[in-house]
Amino acid sequence: MRKPLIAGNWKMNTSLEEAKRLVQAILNELDGIDVVEKVLCPPFISLAAIKELLRGTSVELGAQNMYFEDKGAYTGEISPIMLTDLCDFVILGHSERRQYFFETDEIVNKKVRKAFEIGLKPIVCVGESLNENEAGKTEPVITNQVREGLAGVRPSGQLVVAYEPIWAIGTGKAATGKQANATISLIRNIVAGLWNKETAKEVRILYGGSVTGNNIAEFIAEPDIDGALVGGASLKANEFVSILKQTAKLKSTR
Ligand code: 13P
Repeated sequence: MRKPLIAGNWKMNTSLEEAKRLVQAILNELDGIDVVEKVLCPPFISLAAIKELLRGTSVELGAQNMYFEDKGAYTGEISPIMLTDLCDFVILGHSERRQYFFETDEIVNKKVRKAFEIGLKPIVCVGESLNENEAGKTEPVITNQVREGLAGVRPSGQLVVAYEPIWAIGTGKAATGKQANATISLIRNIVAGLWNKETAKEVRILYGGSVTGNNIAEFIAEPDIDGALVGGASLKANEFVSILKQTAKLKSTR
């Protein structure tokens, strides 16, 4: 069975001190949530300090992005090699990267290949815009993003995909559990077609977009949804812990 995964994407929030306080507050509440894999994705500058705080705990670390070259004259970029000592996971192709930093499927694909090559587990984000959704184009858009993002990538059960409809991110208007599950099973079918059924059954596919302690249960109850990529609600320790606890409870009783 796939282990549920809850990841917190802090985006461009928290100073170093705020980040350390938030981690400590989460760790204080974490007893008995072993059935859920827990990943925090703070800003780059906090990774090293947070790695120390997480030593000996069951919480893993992820980066929010990376470049696809190992090193060189790429001012301001962070290389995959710099991350391998620090992180287990890396978020790739987040819609905010695609929208504000012009990341194309081709760039996302280069990053996904690099992450696997170097031993980082990619959390590959896909999602349609409101216009695409209203025009009934969700299926072709998602199909294209998954196919292009995974082009030439060897089958791996370590892949994590996050389905994050853009209209649900930061808007307070989450998809319904049923909507999210339908698109997530589509994604699993695409992965099965690209790779094979066995690997597709191992790949974890998360929902992201306005997930809170109030709606997490609706997503976790769905058969194809393996967890969540949480933005705003991951910045509040009690909210994030509530999401973790509900996920643990629901997944262990299923
Ligand atoms: P919100 O949970 O703030 O809507 O953000 C979702 C997201 O983009 C996580 O990567």
